[in-house]
Amino acid sequence: MPSSSGRTSKRFMPFQIDGTVVQNRQIKSVYFILGIHCPPIANLIQPGQFIMLKISEDHSPLLRRPFSVYKTYPENHPAKEKRGCLFICYKEVGKGTHKMTTLQKGKILNLIGPLGNGFTPPPLPSSANIILIGGGVGIVSVYPFAEAFNHLKLFVFIGGKTKKDILCVEDFKKLNSKIFVSTENGSLGFRGTVVDLFLSQRKIFTEDKKYYLYACGPMPMLKALAGKIKSRNFIAQASLEARMGCGFGACWGCVIKTNHSQTPYQRVCKEGPVFSFKDICWD
Ligand SMILES: Cc1cc2nc3c(=O)[nH]c(=O)nc-3n(C[C@H](O)[C@H](O)[C@H](O)COP(=O)(O)OP(=O)(O)OC[C@H]3O[C@@H](n4cnc5c(N)ncnc54)[C@H](O)[C@@H]3O)c2cc1C
Ligand code: FES
Repeated sequence: MPSSSGRTSKRFMPFQIDGTVVQNRQIKSVYFILGIHCPPIANLIQPGQFIMLKISEDHSPLLRRPFSVYKTYPENHPAKEKRGCLFICYKEVGKGTHKMTTLQKGKILNLIGPLGNGFTPPPLPSSANIILIGGGVGIVSVYPFAEAFNHLKLFVFIGGKTKKDILCVEDFKKLNSKIFVSTENGSLGFRGTVVDLFLSQRKIFTEDKKYYLYACGPMPMLKALAGKIKSRNFIAQASLEARMGCGFGACWGCVIKTNHSQTPYQRVCKEGPVFSFKDICWD
């Protein structure tokens, strides 16, 4: 089934393959970076696609867990020491991610990927204005897109509950980006949600220009954003999160409701995780 956004981004058959842990370190509070040497996936994965990771050989947790890839270093990457590696930035939220924190360098993990449809870039030739909006750990899903489109002007909105939940600011500082930060408790930047922050800066975005907007975060955040970007000058995509059973389209455990009468339900893992905002039924 084609994706509802009719995207044309590259898609390859996923691999089920072993990778080796090269790094697993805490970056702050409940956030960690896991590096895995797995050249076949590192070579092919596109911004917004994801992997399913088998966290342990015993059956706890039984199901693989889905993760976006935060940074990838294909085998032809200039950083020789990282070639063939991919990095996940994960938040410890439950049983599986807690177990991930104990993974040691050298551990062999089984991965399936690249999975799903990633972000569709603006049409070429492009001098498009790009807006990236990330809530919590969602910002790591849009970061690879920013890296790939660093030649364009990027407006980046990063939000979290507290300053401990603000990620990737240093990464975005290295790119051609204007960064805005919000926290719900006011401990860093604007006080409020990342959607409030975006609205507070709305005057930057003029009616006569087109803006390509890419967002990832919790569903309530995306829903709030959907209500604010209905004007035609925002061409907007969201990367959705859902509980996943298989990750490759077989179990229908991850469906969301769409606005399409022919395909009223689509699978986040297969047709997504990236969808056009206008295709999702946000009610
Ligand atoms: C396409 C995709 C990409 C993702 N990328 C990342 C990423 O880059 N970094 C990251 O930290 N997390 C990411 N997630 C979320 C991640 O998969 C979950 O946090 C993880 O599966 C939780 O496993 P657990 O065993 O620790 O939690 P569990 O013990 O299974 O659950 C603990 C809590 O987390 C919630 N939860 C579990 N899974 C999800 C989910 N998929 N979406 C929303 N809430 C969930 C549960 O409702 C529960 O409240 C992604 C999810 C998807 C679907
Ligand atoms: S997780 Fe099985 S179909 Fe999406």
